[in-house]
Amino acid sequence: MPQRLPSSLLPLLRCLADGRFHSGEVLAERLAMSRANVCNLLHQAESLGLAIHALRGRGYRLAHAADWLDADRVRGALGARAAHFTLRIVDSVDSTNRALLEAAQRGAPDGTVLAAEHQFAGRGRRGRAWQSALGGSLAFSVLWRFDAGIAALGGLSLAAGLAVARAVNRHSRHRAGLKWPNDVLVGHRKLAGILVEVQGDSEGPSLAVVGIGLNVRLPPAQREAIDQAVVDLAEMGVTCGRNTLLAACLAELHDVVVRLRRDGFRALRAEWEAHHAHAGAPVTLTLPDARTLHGIAAGVDERGAFLLTDDSGVTRAFHGGEISLRPRRRQP
Ligand code: BTN
Repeated sequence: MPQRLPSSLLPLLRCLADGRFHSGEVLAERLAMSRANVCNLLHQAESLGLAIHALRGRGYRLAHAADWLDADRVRGALGARAAHFTLRIVDSVDSTNRALLEAAQRGAPDGTVLAAEHQFAGRGRRGRAWQSALGGSLAFSVLWRFDAGIAALGGLSLAAGLAVARAVNRHSRHRAGLKWPNDVLVGHRKLAGILVEVQGDSEGPSLAVVGIGLNVRLPPAQREAIDQAVVDLAEMGVTCGRNTLLAACLAELHDVVVRLRRDGFRALRAEWEAHHAHAGAPVTLTLPDARTLHGIAAGVDERGAFLLTDDSGVTRAFHGGEISLRPRRRQP
């Protein structure tokens, strides 16, 4: 059963952020613990997938320099837009979505962000678990409050995907696209997933927690535990670092939420379609009752519903996060 990290692990890993060797003795002294404790903690980090080199006489170093999350650096990269957010970074939590929903119940304000270095029970769409890697993922959630009822939040999930694709594309040579409703793909492999959880009345007010998980550098064991094709920023050659990336995602999320509140999803529809990874392709939809439907992906409507054109040329709209979509090979 995965668990919260020991409280002294992240402070120790932060001492190793530069990717250089640090002696066990110096680390132990800095953190007021024994050398055996340093050694045990680093073993635990390795078991979570973090690559660490240990060399007799030189000490320990991270195989890849780590950009541990730092609230001041995120705020610095956000500039004036930092005023829209209340940012909290924690070392370890079960799920940032669950914890932020709880904070929302206690009155957390619009724009509250919870980011975690480590999630031990990350939640994915359709009741699945979400795998993230210590130092090799970005996992965060943002709380947005709306005057409107939950019905008006239909396009939020797609808008969030668009925001993440924009943020990645600012830093990447490989263009990120979107799979309805909001998976971020690069070359048909999944780079990021988004889970939107909403609460409120049909008349409003309402709130949404938008949770984003992004693959930065996935260790081999984690990749094997994921039952679909995945890609990470390291293999895409993106070197901007997690703090910069988090700030870019927050800035773009703020932009799409402002537009959504003012004009609805229709204002973002054309841009979403320009990122659509399956536009005009044959696809299969699996509905919540397990029925499957085949057709051609015809885009999205003004509320963010998926448009499927069947063999007889009829186009129908499908809503809801419980629907799954997969590309289908064209018949020869
Ligand atoms: C998906 O299944 O594609 C959605 C994955 C969403 C994962 C993120 S990680 C941060 C936030 N906290 C969670 O527990 N889930 C979301």
